[in-house]
Amino acid sequence: MKSEGSKQVKIFDITLRDGSQSKVATRIRLEDLLKVARKLADTGIYGAETWGGATFDVCVRFLREDPWERARKLKEAMPKVKNMMLIRGQNLVAYSNFSDDVVIKFVQAAARNGIDVFRIFDALDDVRNQETVIKAIREVGKISEGAVCFTISPVHTIEKFVSKARELEDKGVDQIAIKDMAGLIDPHTTFELVSSLKKAVNVPIHLHTHDSCGLGMMSVLKAVEAGCDMIDSVLSPFSGGTGHPCTESIVYSLHRFGYQTGCDLAKLTQAAEEAKSVRKLYSEFEAPYSGVDCTMLVTQIPGGVMSNLASQLRLQNALDRFNEIIDEIPKVREDLGYIPLVTPTSQIVVSQATFNVLLGRYKIIANHTANLLKGLYGATPAPVNKELQARVLKGEKPTTVRPAELLPPMWPELEEKFPGLTDEEILIHAIFPHEASGYFEEKEKKEHGNT
Ligand code: CO
Repeated sequence: MKSEGSKQVKIFDITLRDGSQSKVATRIRLEDLLKVARKLADTGIYGAETWGGATFDVCVRFLREDPWERARKLKEAMPKVKNMMLIRGQNLVAYSNFSDDVVIKFVQAAARNGIDVFRIFDALDDVRNQETVIKAIREVGKISEGAVCFTISPVHTIEKFVSKARELEDKGVDQIAIKDMAGLIDPHTTFELVSSLKKAVNVPIHLHTHDSCGLGMMSVLKAVEAGCDMIDSVLSPFSGGTGHPCTESIVYSLHRFGYQTGCDLAKLTQAAEEAKSVRKLYSEFEAPYSGVDCTMLVTQIPGGVMSNLASQLRLQNALDRFNEIIDEIPKVREDLGYIPLVTPTSQIVVSQATFNVLLGRYKIIANHTANLLKGLYGATPAPVNKELQARVLKGEKPTTVRPAELLPPMWPELEEKFPGLTDEEILIHAIFPHEASGYFEEKEKKEHGNT
């Protein structure tokens, strides 16, 4: 019989992607990421999140840095570490659905450029929006991790999360992630959820949480006690608050409990030193406050959503309506079938709530809200408000098929439009059509300047 003491916990250090995204708006350049990656390479971590999420967007739009080169170079710097990316299901690394052929091309290119593990989520938790990605990953022989978004609502019960995980396992994922993007999961729920998942599914369980409400470290420990196999964490200089629980403290504590992580604490502290100097270089991108904030325990609205809303309202000179909008968000969320608040659904809910407060409730139904009510994003966790739905459908039937079924293949047309380009370059055009031309122009200039 296996004793508690011999249990292994796999550590995924996520400093290079979510760490950077949560603390310095994803602005860290490749050369600086590489400094940290080289130190992380032989610390004994099992995995590192290096790519996906906002990185692709920020590379193309702001940094004018080749996102594919980033994936390749980080893998080269950490050859023994499983490099992980976060992929938004059929939205890939953008904000709306792509056709299946583009999705398959993207997964193939990501795998070719060094991604070993794909964490796949969908903002509606509609597994049909994850299935093409899952299939494509299996075909390239990489690891697929199906994510269940953790959120709090009257319809989100332990049973509901578990049944999502079962659906993902049926679709063939290699592991399951609990994706607590807002840091809302508490230690008690974590223990209950991980225990239930361990009973219900056979694949390993991976916890992703943030420390926004100061619950992260306790939740990690309870997860491990409940049998969680993999943990996400960041090096100490990026940990805490809007960031994540700390890699070194987790490794230290788990070793004290007799768990094995395979990590070398001394080497991790050297990587942390490097991470500390790197973070200093990007101080201009720091949020005014990124520590623990427990407001969310009452509002259940993620901190990122609150701060985005505040800055938008400031631009519109409407900051005095902030509290009314915060009160309106749960009502809109209920009307939209209790969708989780994550990219891009959080933006949809917040914009609609803002319209409702500033112009009158549903005087205007935003385009994205209408599409959601029509079923174009997929099935919502609970039924949407029927009256609102009837208003936008105008007698038509809601969409009930897998949303990507409605999209014709796009790849042949893209190949025709961009002759002589690599798949990787075509994908940049396909995913960010408005930013791509500026990106390629600047890239060309830089390359000419160098020769
Ligand atoms: Co996160």
